[in-house]
Amino acid sequence: MTNEPSAHRLTVLGAGVMGASITTTALGHGVPVHLVDTDPQRLAEVGAVVEHQLRFARMMGSLPAGRETAALTTSTKPDTAFGPTVLVEAIVEDAGRKADVLAEVCGTLPPDTPIVTNTSSIPVDELAGAVDDPARLIGVHFMNPPYLIPFVEVIRGPRTAGRTLDAVTSMLAVLGRDAVVVRDSPGFVTSRLLHPMLNDAARLLGEGVASAEQVDTLMQGCLGHRTGPLRTADLIGLDNLADSLRILAERTGIDSHRPCRTLLEKVRNGDLGRKSGRGFYEYGEAQP
Ligand code: NAI
Repeated sequence: MTNEPSAHRLTVLGAGVMGASITTTALGHGVPVHLVDTDPQRLAEVGAVVEHQLRFARMMGSLPAGRETAALTTSTKPDTAFGPTVLVEAIVEDAGRKADVLAEVCGTLPPDTPIVTNTSSIPVDELAGAVDDPARLIGVHFMNPPYLIPFVEVIRGPRTAGRTLDAVTSMLAVLGRDAVVVRDSPGFVTSRLLHPMLNDAARLLGEGVASAEQVDTLMQGCLGHRTGPLRTADLIGLDNLADSLRILAERTGIDSHRPCRTLLEKVRNGDLGRKSGRGFYEYGEAQP
């Protein structure tokens, strides 16, 4: 295993559930990361989160053995001197906020630097108008947690350039991720199929058809799912899931994709899943 410095350097915007764990994946593969979040409190905590994830991922054998962990820097504003080879946006699932942050950041990067959005449901082309050169925007839908799941969904927008796709797939190969490239569409393949199913699982719970444990046990035991839908929803974050479902409903016109009452009640009560310590299940304490 080489410990040569990596040719890649990532700036990651957003140090939440995904930004932190994309950072872990990169650092563990020797790729330095500059991690940016507007919330200084989150930045104060994220180093410990990443350390914990690095230990866990190594224990699970999902990071290269013997590879030195690369350097992490953090700040509340992108450091223009860092010079990333790829920028990854992983802020909240809100098209307006993503467009604002992309418009702001693209002017700080050299013209050819690819910009990745880790959106789970917003069509990439809808965000492309915010970028100075839409050819450099591409979607990479990392699966949660990225340091354990070796596949990613790559979304090539109608205006994404071939050179952007090539540069980003080469970066993903350095991170040990296998890319499946799909056409742009609301929710792409994975969220379009998964999120409505998680919504229906919450609906069944709300209708009193089964308990959370029963729903998950049936889907795991009978249908071979690795994790039950309600535990998966807790892992994703119920606020994020509700945002994604709203976007799916609006962009597809399929009304049943709207987040169900049971899900919305949890979000209103601050029960956001693992990240808040309670969702469909109790976790004792927040598990960022
Ligand atoms: P999160 O809510 O855990 O974290 C979002 C972070 O973005 C917060 O720490 C917030 O302070 C920060 N932020 C907000 N505005 C910002 C700005 N202008 N600049 C820098 N930081 C800013 O959200 P999560 O779950 O990490 O999701 C991030 C993105 O990844 C969303 O687009 C989501 O749909 C997508 N995604 C989420 C998955 C999941 O399982 N949670 C899976 C795959 C994609």
